[in-house]
Amino acid sequence: MNLASKNLISLFEFIHEKEKGFPYANGELSQLLRGISLATKIINREVRVAGLSNILGSTGYYNVQGEEVKKLDEYANEVMIKSLNLSQSVALMGSEENEEVILSNAEAKYVILFDPLDGSSNIDVNINIGTIFSIFRKVNENCNLEDCLQLGLKQVAAGYVIYGSSTMLVYTTGAGVNGFTLEPSIGEYFLSHPDIKMPEKSNTFSINEGNSWGFEENLKKYLEYIKIDDKATKRPYKARYVGSLVADFHRTLLKGGIFIYPASKKEPNGKLRLLYEANPIAFLAEQAGGLATDGNKRILEKQPKELHERTPLYVGSKQEIELIHKFLNETIVLQ
Ligand code: AHG
Ligand code: MN
Ligand code: MN
Repeated sequence: MNLASKNLISLFEFIHEKEKGFPYANGELSQLLRGISLATKIINREVRVAGLSNILGSTGYYNVQGEEVKKLDEYANEVMIKSLNLSQSVALMGSEENEEVILSNAEAKYVILFDPLDGSSNIDVNINIGTIFSIFRKVNENCNLEDCLQLGLKQVAAGYVIYGSSTMLVYTTGAGVNGFTLEPSIGEYFLSHPDIKMPEKSNTFSINEGNSWGFEENLKKYLEYIKIDDKATKRPYKARYVGSLVADFHRTLLKGGIFIYPASKKEPNGKLRLLYEANPIAFLAEQAGGLATDGNKRILEKQPKELHERTPLYVGSKQEIELIHKFLNETIVLQ
């Protein structure tokens, strides 16, 4: 395909255009997104040859989450931190892999939370993984942890990169959701999925039913309901579960459906982290016309208390989230 023949818009031309209308636009946000873009291109290069470079497997130690740190987790984390420091565009960073926040350029006006490598359990088996980020404007001149503990509603930008059959960057600044595909021979992201809208309804559900022994009864009733054979209501639903939030959400964003990581006896607050998994995913979902809750309230209205706190996550098509809430709030009976 002759790239010149297509009127391709690069990520930076797009940001530059968009930022013209962006309040407080002085290029710092595009500088920050440039830092993320560079980091993810470097991570992408390692991901694409992971089997050949000594980047597979475990580091042998455990992070603040008590989870085994894979070599690519550590590598992606180092690349994100270095690239963001070089961009001079963040005052503070919070990473899944670091117990405390990381100070960067005190003069900068943004703070960033990120999951440098999402879906670590899939790295060694060549299944889609990703990087997730969430950006706020700092609230304190001498910014500190409190600047990271803002309501998700306050995010100025959020997005992810999915290292899949192609590498895509999907982000929002609150004016819709746009997807960019990396053209590896040029090393540039180009607009490929403008103004993404999540289908209002779709019969695909995504949950790890291996944990169902510990699910609340109403969730079990919902899972029974969607498996009943009833063509009129497009049941049974299709089951799809990758085990990488970025991959399961990317499918839900484009095709609709529902992704659930609920609270359970095994994980009373769920497994996913509010600041650098649920909040950015919820911002994207709502910007694309979907919904995201913790089973009770809107994710974006949850007041974070800790950097690594976890939350249950129900995210997806508007009608699918409304349906499951009828079960969770017991306003529906099995038909
Ligand atoms: P991370 O690799 O950053 O720790 O995230 C993994 C998360 C998320 O990507 C995925 O949805 C979930 O873990 C899968 O958990 P289970 O393996 O318990 O289903
Ligand atoms: Mn993750
Ligand atoms: Mn991770």
